[in-house]
Amino acid sequence: MFEYLVPRAPDAIIALMQQCKADKNPDKIDLGVGVYKDASGETSILRAVKQAEKQLWESETTKSYVGIRGNEEFRHAMLHMMLGGKAGKIDDALMNRTASSQAAGGSGALRLGAEIIKSAAPDATVWVSTPTWANHIPLISAAGLKMGKYPYYNRETLGVDFDDMLAHLEAKAKPGDVVLLHGCCHNPTGADLAPAEWDRLTAFLLEHQLTPFVDLAYFGLGRGMEEDTYGLRKVVDQCPEVLIAASCSKNFALYKERVGLIAIVCKDDATAEIARSQLGATQRKIISMPPDHGAKLVADILGDTELRAMWVEELTEMRERMRDLRRQLSEALNVQGGEVMAAAVKNQNGMFSTLPLSVDQARKLRSDYSIYMTDSGRINIAGANDENIPRLAEAILAVL
Ligand code: LMR
Repeated sequence: MFEYLVPRAPDAIIALMQQCKADKNPDKIDLGVGVYKDASGETSILRAVKQAEKQLWESETTKSYVGIRGNEEFRHAMLHMMLGGKAGKIDDALMNRTASSQAAGGSGALRLGAEIIKSAAPDATVWVSTPTWANHIPLISAAGLKMGKYPYYNRETLGVDFDDMLAHLEAKAKPGDVVLLHGCCHNPTGADLAPAEWDRLTAFLLEHQLTPFVDLAYFGLGRGMEEDTYGLRKVVDQCPEVLIAASCSKNFALYKERVGLIAIVCKDDATAEIARSQLGATQRKIISMPPDHGAKLVADILGDTELRAMWVEELTEMRERMRDLRRQLSEALNVQGGEVMAAAVKNQNGMFSTLPLSVDQARKLRSDYSIYMTDSGRINIAGANDENIPRLAEAILAVL
């Protein structure tokens, strides 16, 4: 039967990773996959994670299954952190009407969320931003859902076309549809909604009976934990139903451990109980039990004052380093013809910015300068460093 298989092109981001790895140029600059790198180009294990792992190694007595929706301490700690604002705590009423499940990374969370939408509202369309993370469409449509696109990033101003976004959704989306939103650090553009836009968007979603599905893959790496969860907290506060897909890949640097959380905020406790049973049954038929190790580490870090403080310090370090790299790259690009790009790079959030480069220009950077970014012009700012920024800016300006 396997002779009937047709070859599939690798995902663009994964193909780029392989291409960069194979490049022998010692001066190559890897701005591809969304993985944080420190000043020496390493993606190190966080100190808090190492410490939690040490404690876990000493105390863990079994590798037996935890449960179909994973570690409850992890789920609750994440919900308190994401939704609790300054207090870092949500009330029992919100916790009780929120069904959650550990998932295999943020992608697993998105897929579980999509499956739940498919079970609850098979005719709903899920609307995604243009552009969006390359894997959103395959992941969500694989659940059998229809998908639509709304305008988001303006490649000339390098900002968000917020009015166009609302006008498009107003014209095309129907009550009961789902709008996928990047909670912060928009992937691939770094262009986020301002708090006032989140306020307007929330009112719009309510008025048009649209359900927000918030992808929160980079929280803590944009402006700060509270700022990065503003939009999510706003929609949860106002909308009766919300889906949340969160990831600990980036903010805990737990990439390969695949730590994610899907949360479904329901109208009432009874509906949440049904959603819990659906999450369990859906997880069971896709992967059965979720992986435990990374989620246990996150639960232990968030549940321990000392480890949590250590993690907050490391998260702040990563965030501030990326802000500083943005400032440096912006200064280097701020020459005649580069002003718009310079301002955008400085003000955007998280790991990514999408530069106004054509596919040919992005490819030329790869072939002539060993500078790796996606064909769409997305850069991962964490791949830059104090040393390579002048060369990077010069090459970008040269190909423009
Ligand atoms: C990215 O956008 O580069 C990351 O989210 C990694 C991935 O799996 O695509």
